[in-house]
Amino acid sequence: MSTDFSAQQAELRRLAAARNAVVLAHNYQRAEVQEAADFVGDSLELARIAAATEADVILFCGVHFMAETAKILSPQKTVLMPDRRAGCPMADMITADDVRALRAEHPGAVVVAYVNTTAAVKAEVDVCCTSANAAQIVARYPEEQEIVFVPDQHLGDWVAHQTGRRMTLWPGYCPVHVIIRPEDIVARRAEHPGAKVMAHPECPRAVADLADVVTSTSGMLRYPQSDDTATYVVATEVGLLTGLRKRHPSRTFVAASEYAVCANMKLGTLEGAIAALHDGLNEVTVPDDVRERALRAVTRMVE
Ligand code: 13P
Ligand code: SF4
Repeated sequence: MSTDFSAQQAELRRLAAARNAVVLAHNYQRAEVQEAADFVGDSLELARIAAATEADVILFCGVHFMAETAKILSPQKTVLMPDRRAGCPMADMITADDVRALRAEHPGAVVVAYVNTTAAVKAEVDVCCTSANAAQIVARYPEEQEIVFVPDQHLGDWVAHQTGRRMTLWPGYCPVHVIIRPEDIVARRAEHPGAKVMAHPECPRAVADLADVVTSTSGMLRYPQSDDTATYVVATEVGLLTGLRKRHPSRTFVAASEYAVCANMKLGTLEGAIAALHDGLNEVTVPDDVRERALRAVTRMVE
């Protein structure tokens, strides 16, 4: 029997109205949190909404770097999270000191950072990107420009392949997406003949190479709109299947691997969201000097 979340969802909506808060939820959030949010999206969509909102409070149901990005873009707003422990292990795989050392090793290089980084790292780089616009951002630079891409080696490898650029890659990775193996794709295709495979670019290249589409979480949510395949194998965090099934009820969606679960994304619960709004808990702050330096790279990302 499924749990009835309607009373908690109504309480969250009541508090959001009382506090003039906007509730943003990433596509990997629990279904009941997504249902109660004002907006659900990928990193880029949510950053753009955070930059433009007129609400006084942003309740960010996602992981810490996403809430920090919202604060960088909207410093006058109060940014809260349902659970302050929701981090992103990939974002912790590179520090601001690491970026300074890379700059010393590669003078003249442009440093492009995936948005999955801390504010302190964003303050040291030239431009940020998300999975939705990484190739576009890299392609803006002249071909001879040296590019260093941090921290996701797999997204970086995919972007290098897409754009034909040679890039220096930092050896970071998403522990959730590297669980998905090429053998999983081969097995799911054998089980579901005729299925199309959609993959997130955080997957290792050997997985991306076997996919029909490689795109951001929202890119995958939209893809079936302009495609009439009956069954899709989905190579990303399993939470995306909830949104896919809801948006496209006549199609079948199969996880490439049931083990691809981001425990950090699941820390955001309705209880946590209600408590955060009720008591102003888990406020996300960024020191002014870091924020001012990070804003340039983040603004280039959302523009
Ligand atoms: P998207 O920007 O595609 O939503 O991805 C964010 C993320 O953390 C994927 O693991
Ligand atoms: Fe970070 Fe991976 Fe979780 Fe995305 S899925 S938030 S990259 S750990």
